[in-house]
Amino acid sequence: MTLNRKRGAILISGRGSNMVSLLRAAQLDDFPVEFTMVISDKIEAPGLGIATSAGVKTHALRHCRDGREAWEDELHQLLTDGEIDLICLAGFMRLLSAEFVGRWAEKILNIHPSLLPDFPGLEAQAQALDAGVSEAGCTVHVVTAEMDAGPILGQAKVPVNAGDSVDALSKRILAEEHQLYPALVAKYVQDHWTTEEPVHAG
Ligand code: GAR
Repeated sequence: MTLNRKRGAILISGRGSNMVSLLRAAQLDDFPVEFTMVISDKIEAPGLGIATSAGVKTHALRHCRDGREAWEDELHQLLTDGEIDLICLAGFMRLLSAEFVGRWAEKILNIHPSLLPDFPGLEAQAQALDAGVSEAGCTVHVVTAEMDAGPILGQAKVPVNAGDSVDALSKRILAEEHQLYPALVAKYVQDHWTTEEPVHAG
C-alpha cells in the first residue's frame, strides 16, 4: 500500500537539531509526513545549511521593516504555495500572532524543553534549575494563540542531577526531544487526518 504523506514545513531559528531528527524520521517509508520546506527567521541559522545539504528547500525569512503582519503574510504565502499541511516549530524562537495561528489552527506543533505547563517561555532549562525541581523534560504540543499553552500531545521526563549546569540539563533533555518529537508528529498526523480526506501524494 502506498502511503499518502502529508506535506510538512519545519520552522527554525538556530542550529536545527530537532529539525534533523524530523528529517531523519521522514526518511522512513512509514513516516506520514514528507518535509518539503525549512524556513528560518534568522538568515544565519546553522540549520539552514544542514537542511540544504539534506536536499530540502530552505527559505530565510528575515524580519521586515513593515512589521510582524507583513512577515507573517509572507510566511503564510510560502506555506500556502508549498501546499503545506503541517508546520513543525523546531527551536523557532519567534512568537506567532493569534491571527496567524488561527489561519493554521491545529496545524502547528511545537516542542518545548520543559514539562509544560511549568516553565513556558525562554530559557526553560534554566528556569527548571532555578526552581530546584528534581525532574525536567520536554513537551510536544499543538500551538495556540497563548504561548506554550496549547493541548499537550506528550512529554518525556529526565532527572535533574545534583550540580547540573544548564548545559548538562539541556543536553539530557535534547536527547529526549529528538525521540519524542518525530514519534508524536507521526502519531498526531495518524490520529488527526482520516484517510477519507484529500491528501498530497508523497
Ligand atoms: C530545543 O531545546 C527546543 O526545545 C527549544 O530550543 C532548542 C532548539 O534546539 N525550543 C524552545 O525553547 C521554544 N520555546 P535545536 O535548534 O537544536 O532544535
